[in-house]
Amino acid sequence: MTILDIPELALVALVGVSGSGKSTFAARHFAPSQVLASDAFRAMVADDENDQSASADAFGALHHVAGVRLRRGRLTVVDATNLQPHARAGLVQVAREHDVLPVAIVLDVPEALAWERTQARADRDFDRQVLARMQRDLRRSYGQLAREGFRKVHVLRGVEEIDAAEVRLDKLHNDRRELTGPFDIVGDVHGCRAELEELLARLGFVLHRDDAGRPVDAVHPAGRTAVFVGDLVDRGPDSPGVLRLVMGMVAAGHAICVPGNHEHKLLRKLRGQDVKLTHGLAETMAQLDAEDPAFVTGAATFIDGLASHFVLDGGRLVVAHAGLKEAYHGRASGRVRSFALWGETTGETDEYGLPVRYPWARDYRGAATVVYGHTPTPTPEWINNTLCVDTGCVFGGKLTALRYPERELVAVDAQREWYAPARPLVSAPTRPDTVLDLADVTGRRHLEHAYGTLTVPAENAAAALEVMSRFAVDPGRLVWLPPTMAPCSTSTVEGFLEHPAQAFGDYRSAGVERVVCEEKHMGSRAVVLVEREPGPFGGGVVHTRTGRPFFGPPWDGELLDRVRAAVGTAGLWDELGTDRLLLDCELLPWSAKAGGLIREQYAGVGAAGRAALPAALDALEAAGARGLPVDALRDRMTARRAEIESYSAAYRTYVAPTEGLRGVTLAPFSVLAGAKVTFTDRDHGWHLALADRLCAADPEFFTPTRRQVVELADDAAVTAATDWWLALTGAGGEGMVVKPYAGPAARSARGSLLQPGIKCRGREYLRIIYGPGYTDPAQLAALRRRSLGRKRGLALREHALGLAALDGYAADVPLWRRHALVFAILACESEPVDPRL
Ligand code: CTP
Ligand code: MG
Repeated sequence: MTILDIPELALVALVGVSGSGKSTFAARHFAPSQVLASDAFRAMVADDENDQSASADAFGALHHVAGVRLRRGRLTVVDATNLQPHARAGLVQVAREHDVLPVAIVLDVPEALAWERTQARADRDFDRQVLARMQRDLRRSYGQLAREGFRKVHVLRGVEEIDAAEVRLDKLHNDRRELTGPFDIVGDVHGCRAELEELLARLGFVLHRDDAGRPVDAVHPAGRTAVFVGDLVDRGPDSPGVLRLVMGMVAAGHAICVPGNHEHKLLRKLRGQDVKLTHGLAETMAQLDAEDPAFVTGAATFIDGLASHFVLDGGRLVVAHAGLKEAYHGRASGRVRSFALWGETTGETDEYGLPVRYPWARDYRGAATVVYGHTPTPTPEWINNTLCVDTGCVFGGKLTALRYPERELVAVDAQREWYAPARPLVSAPTRPDTVLDLADVTGRRHLEHAYGTLTVPAENAAAALEVMSRFAVDPGRLVWLPPTMAPCSTSTVEGFLEHPAQAFGDYRSAGVERVVCEEKHMGSRAVVLVEREPGPFGGGVVHTRTGRPFFGPPWDGELLDRVRAAVGTAGLWDELGTDRLLLDCELLPWSAKAGGLIREQYAGVGAAGRAALPAALDALEAAGARGLPVDALRDRMTARRAEIESYSAAYRTYVAPTEGLRGVTLAPFSVLAGAKVTFTDRDHGWHLALADRLCAADPEFFTPTRRQVVELADDAAVTAATDWWLALTGAGGEGMVVKPYAGPAARSARGSLLQPGIKCRGREYLRIIYGPGYTDPAQLAALRRRSLGRKRGLALREHALGLAALDGYAADVPLWRRHALVFAILACESEPVDPRL
């Protein structure tokens, strides 16, 4: 039996004449979806698998599909004769583009047998000479395959060998996804053996020494694994000592290690290549001179055996010396190795003559955490889920380790500056992951998050981009946007479009037992992010439901000052252990923000009605007096005049004089998040109790939210809440929002997210929405046919995005990731825009 070793991710080219059994072989050893056959692609593009004139197009399509599969990390087998160098070159190129290994499997059967088989097939019709030419091409191919770039060439000669062959898929060396840690990932050591010993001890490792007292292993009692990011050697006082310890740990299974550029160079030197003894290599060579030659040989073998990078912990962690962009994770090629060792450079040099490194981390959008070294920085900073743990120990900085998955840093100081740096250690610009990329949000985008999935159409993204880029507050502080809210199911109660009976019914049928009815303030939604320290950027932000600043300076700042003071007076900073809070509020009165809208839209309608209807009635009176039959029309106009009065009264309730912040109040009803914490799992009793404390702290500025807690099975409580709503709306209130008492992230018994709130608006208030005369029985009947499905779906999707965005804020995920969620909420709310306009 011949075992064919093939990397798990490879491009496999079958090579053989027609009738050699390639398709048969492919069907036996690979899944149908893994096999791309030229015949099938000819049929796909030309409806005829033997149409040779379609070959160029067929191969074009085949290469494209092969490329897509390889990009997605899928093993791909190409079933074509692959006898011509140019045909194979195309495949090698596709493999290279995706940094996977090209492999060839040659099936070589006697020409006579291939001819016999071909003749037996109805779907093959060509001369013997064609087969003979193929056979000649095959002979010629033998010497060329390896040179063409195939990293493995398996040759199977004769039917027996072909039939007996078995394919074995090998994991790539860099694939250690089965190792789940926990890990302690150590930055560039550069021969600082004493600091390494100290760091390992600090991490809890127990050092083992040989008879000469030299450390040869370190074991963690809790089974933690050390991970070395490379650059163990050069510049420092004891590179051999570091090598000895790390080699011992790796051999014993207590550590894993990737190579750095310094190991790479050392290996070339040890192999006798012409290498300049710069950047500390001279010191290492001198130190190695004092070592036993067997140790030096062992070190060379060790370095030679190191994989360019590791993919660990189920793919959630990647370690490479200079970092690694996402497309290269788990791939194997020259350029992957080169990126892992040196990183990408821009081709420029800085003022110290050192190459400028391409800031790949800034553009990193991968899900895997990438930990690396190579570029010394004073303090490690997370950039888009990547972290450099080289803190320049050999230059007198620190030796740092990252505990994973805890994400804690442990560092020890260098004993001294062992080597003068060519340039001073400069920190990366602070929070460099605040750089957003247009490509993060534009176009049609599919979002997957912890609460669901969603596709944002390109048209909606375009509309959201307009608002986001021109009007919205700093994306870093735009933590969350409120979801839209669906109304209750349409009421069947005489004269009502919305009624509490339906709001309660909606939750009851979702299995909710207890709800809270909150007075719906009629103002403007305000999201307040307030920071304990006022700070140079205002100490927070207050924005509208579309992310715009509220009134602008200086009032937004004053508003934040008021909130900050109240949070302090109420003692919430310390009690909640946070230095910032995100509050969901309504800002009152409505006219404070919506004055223009009220004047232009609502007052205009009222004024027109009040001017026109009395005149119309006068004319109708006069006509009636002359005996004309206008009674019906006059009655209708009389009714309309009453409706217009009710309409004007409805919006006027929400108008009050304000000047700056004078007359403005804030009604908070949810405390959504703090520093590294969300409160979406707290029940509304908790949320409202905190709101009450803010009201108590500054009763002039905060408006309390009246509420009723209702057990839905308790008929008396339901009746009481209904009466409460009737009184509230009868006195001009907008209505109420009914929420699951369990809190903003409440779920149904079946585990799905519930509507976070259902609004139940008052009969008079709805005149503002549906028009003065909507209570007319005919209009009401038409409105009852309103469809709520879309609104409900939208509300739930936006709610889910909002919860994910809050979690992301608390978990300090890269800005681009949480911003994409907030952006999607805005996109859901936006009218689609034709992206061509
Ligand atoms: N065949 C066979 N015994 C084998 C392998 C193949 O009898 N061990 C027969 C197949 O049943 C088929 C013919 O030989 O009828 C050709 O085999 P196939 O696998 O189709 O050969 P390919 O190399 O794929 O030929 P082509 O290049 O023409 O597609
Ligand atoms: Mg075939």
